[in-house]
Amino acid sequence: MKKFKDKFFIIKLGIDMVNKIGVIGAGAMGSSIAEVFAYNGYEVILKDVSMDYSNKGFNNIKRILNDFEAYNKKLPEKEILRMEKNGIELLKSQKDKILENLYKPVNIESILKRITPSDSYDSLNNCDIIIEAAFEDQNVKNKIFEELSKYTGENTIVATNTSSLSITEMASHYKYPNKAILMHFFNPPYTLPLIEIAPSTQGSDEAAREVYNLLSGMKNHRDKMYPVMTKDRAGFIVNRILLQVINEAVKVYDENIASKEDIDIAMKKGAGFPMGPFELVDYVGVDIVYDVLKTFNNVYGDRFNVSETLKNLVLAGYNGKKSGKGFYNYAER
Ligand SMILES: NC(=O)c1ccc[n+]([C@@H]2O[C@H](COP(=O)([O-])OP(=O)(O)OC[C@H]3O[C@@H](n4cnc5c(N)ncnc54)[C@H](O)[C@@H]3O)[C@@H](O)[C@H]2O)c1
Repeated sequence: MKKFKDKFFIIKLGIDMVNKIGVIGAGAMGSSIAEVFAYNGYEVILKDVSMDYSNKGFNNIKRILNDFEAYNKKLPEKEILRMEKNGIELLKSQKDKILENLYKPVNIESILKRITPSDSYDSLNNCDIIIEAAFEDQNVKNKIFEELSKYTGENTIVATNTSSLSITEMASHYKYPNKAILMHFFNPPYTLPLIEIAPSTQGSDEAAREVYNLLSGMKNHRDKMYPVMTKDRAGFIVNRILLQVINEAVKVYDENIASKEDIDIAMKKGAGFPMGPFELVDYVGVDIVYDVLKTFNNVYGDRFNVSETLKNLVLAGYNGKKSGKGFYNYAER
């Protein structure tokens, strides 16, 4: 890895070794992971199977940045309105201060300039960290790790963003398995700051710790990033716990104990969840939740037995928000 020369960045981002990041897969997760790194000052190569897909990911990043800029621009006006509604009269100088404090324009062009869409493995050969965010399929991921072995050096850290698959298996397809780790971002990474990190069984704690330190110095559009350390066990921390809650919610619904609407209200208003379990399944994708639950069922047995209701929704193509229908109907909303 190269030394990063700019002292300002070393202090600001808490890094001293990394300057170029590769992301494989420019879908929902890959493109927003690329955005977070570029936002923090890193050069990013965003690779997908074709330029069409990687450009689509790049355009998604443009949209994310423009949406945030539009939202942030309105913050001072909203705050001034709120204060005036509460009977507080503001001088022009006070309004200017609010504007200055609440709206810090982001240089979108310079962030976008740091991201290069690509369709070739060659373009990744001098990256310090490469994060795989392709389809949630063990064979696809194993193949990517195998392919990467031709292009990376012994110091490159290669990470997967898998939600439930084995990093240890991916590492066994990689030339330097001690450098293969989990780096699991949450959807969407530009507002959710958690990242679960784990070494593979063959992996070194040193590689995981290096990434932990790097992420500790980073931020997204809402917060500082919060890396946590875990182990290569299906579901890691969050999904293993959360999917149990979701699965139980579906069982409560199946047993006619309450409607899905009331279960969502109960978990939001009684347990402080930001989204109800059924809203969350629809947001993540019913098919994704179903696949992850099946993996957990294989690994952990009966405590993750999957409801027929979920299976039937998937068979019907009711995969949640992205398909217009899941537990809820989005066409009517
Ligand atoms: N969606 C979520 O909520 C979420 C959250 C955390 C982690 N993840 C994980 O992130 C990964 C990606 O999920 P997503 O929701 O972004 O999927 P997605 O379907 O939106 O994107 C996947 C992208 O990978 C590309 N791809 C497939 N095979 C490839 C290959 N061999 N080389 C390069 N690119 C390839 C596809 O063309 C597509 O653009 C999965 O492992 C998923 O489990 C998803």
